Amino acid sequence: MDAPRLKTPLPGPKAAAIIARDASSVSPSYTRPYPLVIARGQGASVEDVDGNVFLDCAAGIAVTSTGHSHPEVVKAIVEQAGRFLHMSGTDFYYEPQVRLAEVLGEVVPIQGATKVFFANSGAEANEAAIKLAKHHERRPYLIAFLGSFHGRTMGALALTASRAVQRAGFGPTMPGVFHTPYANCYRCPVGANPDSCQAECLAFLEDQVLVHLVSPDEVAGIVVEPIQGEGGYLVPPAAFHERLAALARQYGILLIADEVQSGMGRTGRMFAMEHFAVEPDIVTSAKGIASGMPLGVMVARDSVMSWPPGAHASTFGGNPVSCAAALATIGLLRDHLAANAADVGSHFMAGLRDLVDKHPLIGDVRGRGLMIGVELVRDRQTKERAVTERDGVIQAMFRRGVLVLGAGRNAVRFSPPLVLTRSQAETVVACFDEALTEVEKGQ
Ligand SMILES: Cc1ncc(COP(=O)(O)O)c(C=O)c1O
Repeated sequence: MDAPRLKTPLPGPKAAAIIARDASSVSPSYTRPYPLVIARGQGASVEDVDGNVFLDCAAGIAVTSTGHSHPEVVKAIVEQAGRFLHMSGTDFYYEPQVRLAEVLGEVVPIQGATKVFFANSGAEANEAAIKLAKHHERRPYLIAFLGSFHGRTMGALALTASRAVQRAGFGPTMPGVFHTPYANCYRCPVGANPDSCQAECLAFLEDQVLVHLVSPDEVAGIVVEPIQGEGGYLVPPAAFHERLAALARQYGILLIADEVQSGMGRTGRMFAMEHFAVEPDIVTSAKGIASGMPLGVMVARDSVMSWPPGAHASTFGGNPVSCAAALATIGLLRDHLAANAADVGSHFMAGLRDLVDKHPLIGDVRGRGLMIGVELVRDRQTKERAVTERDGVIQAMFRRGVLVLGAGRNAVRFSPPLVLTRSQAETVVACFDEALTEVEKGQ
C-alpha cells in the first residue's frame, strides 16, 4: 500500500455513516481526535473504508510494533487459533505461555531468574505490579510521578497523574499513592539548569515526600515510566533513573518500570530502561508486546514473585493466541525491528530537528528510537504552550494522510510501527513541515 493516498474528502461517505452509528451506540468516553475508520492495514499503512490510505505514526497508540498484520504474526495467530483458543493459564498449563515467560526472562532488563504474571492490558499489568509490591514488601504505600500514565482501572488510576479529566468523578481512588515531579528538562519542575543538574527534581521526593508525607520504610514500590509517554514523551537524564534506583535500594523499595509504552523495541532497545544503567525489580509491558493482540505482562525478579497460589490470577490473561502473537513479535523485534527503530528513529529525529529553524512553533524535539515527541510553543522564550496549534497540526497531518496523536498538553507524538522505513519517515517529516506552515499561517 502506497501511503499517503487520499481519494475522498475526510471523512468519506462510508466512514461518516459508521461514525454516525458509533455516536448512538458506543461510549462517549473515548477520545477520537479525527474521523478515521480503518478497513485494513499493512506494515505502516492503513486503508480506511473509503479507500483512503494513510501513513500510520500512531500505531493504535504505540501498539502495532511489527506493523499491521505482519505475516509471521498472523501465521502464528492462525496456527494457534486452529489448535485451541483458550484453556486459562490460571487453572491449566500450555506450552506457549511457558515459552513466552522464558523468552521474556531473556529480554527484560533484570539480571538473574524472573517470573511472569500474565494479564490482558497495560492497566492490568500495573494492577498486578501494585498488588505484588504490596504483598511482597508487606508495606502499604506507593510512589508515582506527576504526568505519568499507568492505566484507568482503580488501582492503576491512583498511580496515573496525567490529565485531571481521567480522574474526575472517580475519586477517591485507591489510597496510599504519593506523587512527585518527573524529570522534565525542557520545563524543569524545580527550576534547575539541565546542564549541571543531578536530577534535583528527586530532592522533592527525598526531602519533602519521604520526610513530611510517608516514611520510606512503609513504601512498597516506586512506579516509573523510563520515558514518560502520555505525559509528552519526556526523556529524563540518566542521573534521574540512577538517583531513583539508588534511593529505592537504600530503603528496600521495589523499583517498578512501567514499560507499557516505552518497551518492546520502540526506543531502539527492547526496553527503554536499557538506555539507563539501571535495573528495576519489576517490569510491566503490554501495547507492542503482541502486535495488537491483547496481552499484558508483569515480570518480576524470582525472589520478588513470592505470592502463593490464589493470591492473583486472571481468566484470560496470557491467552494462548496472544502468547503466540507475542512470541512471533519478540522474534521479529530481536531479529531486526528494534535495530530498525534505532536507525529510522535517528533519521526521523534528525529530519525533525532540521525543521526547528524554519518553524517557530517547535519548542523541543525529543525521544529515543521511534518514540519521538515534538513540543509546540507559542514563544520559545516564555515556552507558552501551543495547545490549539498542536491540535491544529494533528488535524492538518490527517488531512494530508498521516496519522499522529498528541501527548501531554502540547506535544505531537510520533509512535509508528517499527517497520517504518527511512523513506516513510522522510514523507512524515515533509507532511509535518507543511502542517506546521499551515497552522503558523493561520495564527
Ligand atoms: C505507560 C503506560 N502504562 C499503562 C498504560 C495502560 O495501558 P492499557 O491502555 O493497555 O490499559 C498505558 C497506556 O497508554 C501507558 O502508556
